[in-house]
Amino acid sequence: MKIVKTVAEVRAQVAEWRKTGMSVGLVPTMGYLHEGHASLIKASVRDNDKTVVSVFVNPMQFGPAEDLESYPRDINRDSLLAGECGADLIFNPEPEEMYHEGFSSFVDMSVLTQELCGLSRPVHFRGVCTVVTKLFNIVKPDRAYFGKKDAQQLAVVRHMVDDLNMDLTIVGCPIIREDDGLAKSSRNTYLNADERKAALVLSKALALGADLIRGGEKSCSAIIAKMKEFIEKEPLARIDYVKIVDCATMQQIDTLDRPALAAMAVYIGKTRLIDNFFTEDL
Ligand code: PAJ
Repeated sequence: MKIVKTVAEVRAQVAEWRKTGMSVGLVPTMGYLHEGHASLIKASVRDNDKTVVSVFVNPMQFGPAEDLESYPRDINRDSLLAGECGADLIFNPEPEEMYHEGFSSFVDMSVLTQELCGLSRPVHFRGVCTVVTKLFNIVKPDRAYFGKKDAQQLAVVRHMVDDLNMDLTIVGCPIIREDDGLAKSSRNTYLNADERKAALVLSKALALGADLIRGGEKSCSAIIAKMKEFIEKEPLARIDYVKIVDCATMQQIDTLDRPALAAMAVYIGKTRLIDNFFTEDL
């Protein structure tokens, strides 16, 4: 697996592929790859002639009190996994390569970022939009792959691409879970054995909500109340938010009368975990 660290090297490689008319897929990641990332890479390998995986823990999307320093990193392991999935190139820049001295341009978004994770992580989506735009400009992919695990991020990126006429297709991929239902996440490595067990409240609460919806419940406040009640029984869990929002606008709704997203962020001990489902996937 070829790992490159500079923008110039990525551009040279992609230009080489483009000469023979090959299509290119991009899978943006922060590394410490797991089967969730692997599913995105495999989707890209299936759809495109060549696949670039970016591995970059983007400082701009972390708040001052967040886990930038402790975020797990292992580029050798990432390289092996990406290679097994059929990726062709890893772009693993240093922060200085992405943000040179004097860097001062940002891509930001209103409305969609003012709910859910945007409320508890005020600088997060500006960092995501900026780095994703840079990666799109560097790689110029035909398609880029994002997981539904970060549902708001997927909606924000789709909206940004539409708003700013970016010339690529965004592909959304299903959430990959552990056998017991916990959504795979690089942050699961922070959990001790008790917390790992407690973390099941997220997927179980969502299953409860999904059952109510399947049973015909239309009142969002009733569904949310039942999910919160369930989570609050777990002593290691602390709710950041449990909400039901319109899929397109990410604004809260009262009644399930349109495609919606049920999403939650819950602290298990010190670790903040997110999970969700789209009603249209039920
Ligand atoms: P990261 O958390 O590494 O996730 C990279 C991609 O993998 C995201 O699109 C995310 O939704 C997807 N992903 C993570 N866990 C998944 C799972 N269990 N099932 C399916 N997909 C999953 O998201 C980021 O990095 C960053 O914000 C990034 C987009 C790279 C910008 O820095």
